[in-house]
Amino acid sequence: MLETITDLSVLRERVRQWKREGHRVGFVPTMGNLHAGHYSLVMLARQYADRVVSSVFVNPTQFGPNEDFTRYPRTVETDKTGLEGAGCDVLWLPTVESMYPFGVELASNVHVPGVSSVLEGEFRPGHFDGVCTVVSRLFNQVQPDVAAFGKKDYQQLAVVRQLVTDLAFPIEIIGGSIVREADGLAMSSRNQYLGAEERPRAAEIHRTLLDLRDGWSAGRPRAEIEAAASGRLAKAGFAVDYATIRRPDLSEPADGEKGAKVALIAARLGRTRLIDNLEF
Ligand code: PAJ
Repeated sequence: MLETITDLSVLRERVRQWKREGHRVGFVPTMGNLHAGHYSLVMLARQYADRVVSSVFVNPTQFGPNEDFTRYPRTVETDKTGLEGAGCDVLWLPTVESMYPFGVELASNVHVPGVSSVLEGEFRPGHFDGVCTVVSRLFNQVQPDVAAFGKKDYQQLAVVRQLVTDLAFPIEIIGGSIVREADGLAMSSRNQYLGAEERPRAAEIHRTLLDLRDGWSAGRPRAEIEAAASGRLAKAGFAVDYATIRRPDLSEPADGEKGAKVALIAARLGRTRLIDNLEF
């Protein structure tokens, strides 16, 4: 049975009880409107822990002033059914007031330098400060042994890993594979913003990631492959923020360099901003 907890003292008591019983506690933070990508993280956390807590909290501090905070889909009743099916034990549902007891304006801010400043950091200034600020709070509230984050948000996972190492959170971070629709579109709560006519075109992002990978494997210069990728997306009607090949740490590789790489895309289709990536 899934237990929904809205009071921090109740959450702390439940987790204390589990730990007294010798259980390892896993954690999956989310903003709700859950889909198979989120549920795969709950199931992944279960492999590393005896009990799993998931949180649903649409965090105001990680949205820019003109972003989708107010229209972000809130579907907590169906989320509960899905979490129960995925084997989650506790749903932690904080309020904005309990998350930010001094108010959002007076919130202590957690900034992770370096990896936060590129790519998403350039296009969404302050976004990762909001993510790190809320993730730090959630970690202190839940006190998990292990936490699962999706590779869908590749840079977020890198930022969280740096946060955990730098601030010495005693938490193991695990990354879950990207869950996709049949046509390759990465599952996202934001996909439902897409109109019926936009939805099939959105799969162009995944096809373009494959192009980036294949171009790099064929030894073509990075600038040329990236320009072709942006061109392909623009032709399909996207406004492209970036379409790029990076090292796993998100620094820029030299042409022809060997070793693991990741292709990353952020692009807007109408009012919907989509991100995706492909490791190779
Ligand atoms: P949200 O977008 O709800 O995502 C919650 C977790 O699910 C993240 O770790 C994300 O990477 C993962 N996820 C989303 N779509 C996925 C997919 N298609 N396949 C695999 N994993 C996927 O990310 C956030 O919320 C917030 O920034 C949060 C970390 C909760 C802080 O507010």
